[in-house]
Amino acid sequence: MGSTLATAPGSLPWVGHAVAIVRDRFRFLRSLPDHGDLVWIRIGPWKALVVTTDALSAQVLRDDRTFDKGGPLYDRIRETGGNGLASCPYDDHRRQRRLVQPCFQADRIPGYVPVMRRQAVQMVDSWREGSPVDVLVDMRVMAARTALATMFSGAPTDSVLDTLVKEVDTVLSGIVRRALMPEWLAGFPTPGNRSYRRAQARTRETVAGLVAGYRRQESDRGDLMSALVATRDPENGNKGLCKSELQDQVLTFLVAGTETTASTLSWALHLVAQHPHVDAQLYEEAAKFLGREGDACADPARLVVARNVVLETLRLYPPLPMLTRVTTRETELGGHTVPQGTTVIFSPYTVQHRPGLYADPEAFLPERWADCAPGFRPPRGPFVAFGGGARKCIGDTFALTHATLALSSIAARWRLHALTDRTPKPATSMTMSPSRLRLLPEKRHPLTVPVHGPPAGR
Ligand code: HEM
Repeated sequence: MGSTLATAPGSLPWVGHAVAIVRDRFRFLRSLPDHGDLVWIRIGPWKALVVTTDALSAQVLRDDRTFDKGGPLYDRIRETGGNGLASCPYDDHRRQRRLVQPCFQADRIPGYVPVMRRQAVQMVDSWREGSPVDVLVDMRVMAARTALATMFSGAPTDSVLDTLVKEVDTVLSGIVRRALMPEWLAGFPTPGNRSYRRAQARTRETVAGLVAGYRRQESDRGDLMSALVATRDPENGNKGLCKSELQDQVLTFLVAGTETTASTLSWALHLVAQHPHVDAQLYEEAAKFLGREGDACADPARLVVARNVVLETLRLYPPLPMLTRVTTRETELGGHTVPQGTTVIFSPYTVQHRPGLYADPEAFLPERWADCAPGFRPPRGPFVAFGGGARKCIGDTFALTHATLALSSIAARWRLHALTDRTPKPATSMTMSPSRLRLLPEKRHPLTVPVHGPPAGR
């Protein structure tokens, strides 16, 4: 197979394409379709086959038995996330998904909306006019507070929050760094490896403490944890999740849900700051449906402009730009035989920027989502920011609702100005978060808009 498929140019001895990826991940991922629908890349000690079309990505995502979770990235994620829903292999996935799915059913989301809104308002209340905002840091804190408050229906203590924000960041960058290393080096007591291990242990300890405290109370509090504790699998003797499975799931939700949402909101704020006409539309909508100071939002599905900005941000900057699979048997892909044990990468970033799938793919055009039904189901087609098939993101509706509401809450109160014309560099981490993004807040002048807008029609 290898002889007929190209290897992306620019591979260096020992490191492969790692230098090109660290130098400019966007450019590297966008260039891959130029070399074929399937392209080999090398990263440090391993080599992987990248799928660059939407059709082949769909094939990989649909057949999760053959293209199972695995490869260097997921091997490392398991070191921290254990056998949670996001990292467990095919053999255990259906059982886990049946157990966890009820916790994310659409009818539970409205119950989380007031928490999402409160946390966003608390964040924007803390900003001061003319004092630059370190955007990613604030979005992380807000997303972590929201995740904890929806899961554990109580204000998280500062030490819990501190652990989550700092240690999870260390763990996520460590996962990528260690995936690029040979196995023997990952076990070596370098300062980086030691701080990764420390962060991993503290994160797991914190989650174990939260879960133990919760299980002692044994009352239904209507939050995500209550649903996780109460869930039963009718196809498996009505068994629920054991203590270690509960911990793995909670850790998975916190890690999977916090940084992805923070990254999306940070890029969205960067894009809005660069596009004043979108900012004006966002503000008008927020003033109509959110109220400047009000704490409630009757129906976030009315925030169509904000929702479209979030979707377009997820298309341009999917927080998880590349994800790995490993083939569990020899298979066929795009007319080629792929041996068992091959690492396969599907890349939401590459697909969503591929010429021919979206008009003017590099442009920020939130209006391209105007025909999407109102609400928070991700669009179909080549939009794969949430993955697809049986392993599709379980928190997609939760995340879209949260990001939309938070973006609108920010726009209602502040206009954020760019301090530079440069696009921020993505961090070298699991997610593609914009590092060192600072924006300057300016207070909005009150805008009087009639409260009756177009009907939402969910
Ligand atoms: C903008 C925010 C988010 C994005 C872009 C996102 C993206 C993704 C993607 C691409 C996958 C598939 C990974 C793969 O196929 O290898 C995934 C899976 C997953 N996500 Fe999300 N996610 C987001 C928010 C959330 C939230 C808020 C939660 C939970 C509260 C969450 C929990 C999960 C879980 C548990 C899985 C594994 C599902 C399974 O394998 O059955 N995500 N996410």
